Amino acid sequence: MNNAVLYQKHNIISKNDALKCLEEYGQLITWKNGKITVLDLGCGDGSVTTSILKRFIPNNCERLVGCDISESMVKYANEHYANDHTSFMVLDIEGDLPNELRGNFDHAFSFYAMHWIQNQEVGFRNIYDLLSEGGECFLVFLSQWPMFDVYRTLSRSTKWKLWMEDVERFISPYHDCQEPEKKVKQLMMSIGFTSVEVECLQKTFVYPDLDVLKGSVTSINPFKIPKDLEEDYVVDFFNVLRDLRVIDHASSNVDEPIKATFNYHLIVAKGRK
Ligand SMILES: C[S@@+](CC[C@H](N)C(=O)[O-])C[C@H]1O[C@@H](n2cnc3c(N)ncnc32)[C@H](O)[C@@H]1O
Repeated sequence: MNNAVLYQKHNIISKNDALKCLEEYGQLITWKNGKITVLDLGCGDGSVTTSILKRFIPNNCERLVGCDISESMVKYANEHYANDHTSFMVLDIEGDLPNELRGNFDHAFSFYAMHWIQNQEVGFRNIYDLLSEGGECFLVFLSQWPMFDVYRTLSRSTKWKLWMEDVERFISPYHDCQEPEKKVKQLMMSIGFTSVEVECLQKTFVYPDLDVLKGSVTSINPFKIPKDLEEDYVVDFFNVLRDLRVIDHASSNVDEPIKATFNYHLIVAKGRK
């Protein structure tokens, strides 16, 4: 998922959830006094950072930094959203932190990115290390998600397995977990976070028609499916979603668009250094 233009157009669920979670839990954040710096981890194209997160950040913020592992996402974000206070940089949440970034941020946010981090301990420790003393993180990410089941099913088929060998890298480490909130809380506390609060929300999102869903499937597709097979991949993807009853089989009204109903689990985690 390196195509920022495509992602920008189709990231409706993450936009929706970032907004709802900030509206619902934003008042739990204890913003620091004085000049503050804010980080958005896994910022993607930068639209959530600048059109949603920014609305909730108080005026004493002197620097907002978005970071992402994808160079093309960061380039797009810098071209479209950077200004005197806002900038974007390449950073791997799961990698070695540059020393100059340690302890540099008063608040760290992340939307729909932490489920990509396979080594959760390294990811959470890095967030801890990026924060200043008393700094807080607010993280929103997926545990269960129907597309992860589709990835697994397709990766077992003779037709797609060649391109999906590394499938588990793109499935949330909490997808098969019954009480992910307990695991995340334990991990955060073991790293040293205090005032840890973690909730697992049961959510539903209805894609109003299959074109919108197609946009979403293609814009977040992490596999290197050859261009000429992309259409075929979406057809098979939809067929698995039909088997899982995520896509309606039949509608009484033929003129009515066919909807897709995603039931999924979202983790909202907050902690202080
Ligand atoms: C689904 S997008 C979410 C983007 C944005 N936060 C939003 O809510 O629209 C996930 C982003 O996480 C980034 N990402 C994945 N692994 C990462 C890592 N190890 N370090 C930093 N960013 C990562 C991806 O490149 C992608 O842009």
